[in-house]
Amino acid sequence: MPHTEGRRSRVAVVTGGASGIGEAVCRHLAARGHRVAVLDLDGDGADRVAKALRADGAEALAAAADVTDRPALGAAFAEIRSALGPTEILVTSAGLVAFDRFEEITPERWDRLIDVNLTGTFNCCQMALPDMVAARWGRIVTISSSSAQRGSPEMAHYAAAKGGVIVLTKSLARAYAPHGITANSIPPSGIETPMQHRSQAEGNLPASATMAAAIPLGHLGTPDDIAAAAAFLASAEAGFITGQVLGVNGGSVL
Ligand SMILES: NC(=O)c1ccc[n+]([C@@H]2O[C@H](COP(=O)([O-])OP(=O)(O)OC[C@H]3O[C@@H](n4cnc5c(N)ncnc54)[C@H](O)[C@@H]3O)[C@@H](O)[C@H]2O)c1
Repeated sequence: MPHTEGRRSRVAVVTGGASGIGEAVCRHLAARGHRVAVLDLDGDGADRVAKALRADGAEALAAAADVTDRPALGAAFAEIRSALGPTEILVTSAGLVAFDRFEEITPERWDRLIDVNLTGTFNCCQMALPDMVAARWGRIVTISSSSAQRGSPEMAHYAAAKGGVIVLTKSLARAYAPHGITANSIPPSGIETPMQHRSQAEGNLPASATMAAAIPLGHLGTPDDIAAAAAFLASAEAGFITGQVLGVNGGSVL
């Protein structure tokens, strides 16, 4: 019997919602009738995305906050709760990438990559979970990285943070299963976003054609590819899926 409850409008918070994968997730969740909070460090970008969602008939709000700033994040979640309602879906796409030879990673650089990618995810999950527990329903989808699955020579800090995100997600899945809350992670690879284009422009990633040649499906992914999977994992229909790592990577074997 399909879950008709899947059509219900929920409040979804999407971190990193102003760009790339997060922006696409906002669009997909809004298209499913959810009320979407676009949370991002880039307040203007979040405003732009929220405005576009509202122009398409969705209920949406921009929330400017740095995921490493707990007081700002607390204020943002409170604002979202009073404007849209309690959070029931959280997708954490805010992230910072960096490429450094291992011996050149300074402690400050290490801390920053862990702070934004791992502690930022922890902060957002901790802010969102009380509402989900109260609702006895919740969906957490973290965006990790394929670099955490295979290791990455010039991204040890980033890959370590994203590996932490994967095991944080699995831990949340086990801790909150009794509350009707699922937690799953999508580790993207080769998705055409501003982050990837910046890394290519800086010479840290090969050109798109070279990257595509290494992917079994023969092309790079789009933010919509990730967003479709995230929207499914956030749906009522995905209620028996938790603690999983869903590769959306064109068949790359990791
Ligand atoms: N593009 C890829 O191929 C790829 C591959 C693996 C993992 N990822 C992961 O996917 C996620 C989305 O990446 P993207 O490619 O869409 O990048 P993007 O740079 O286009 O978007 C990232 C967004 O996160 C926001 N952000 C960064 N730091 C923040 C902070 N401290 N607080 C709040 N917001 C912050 C940025 O302002 C931006 O809007 C990231 O976590 C990234 O690590 C992407």
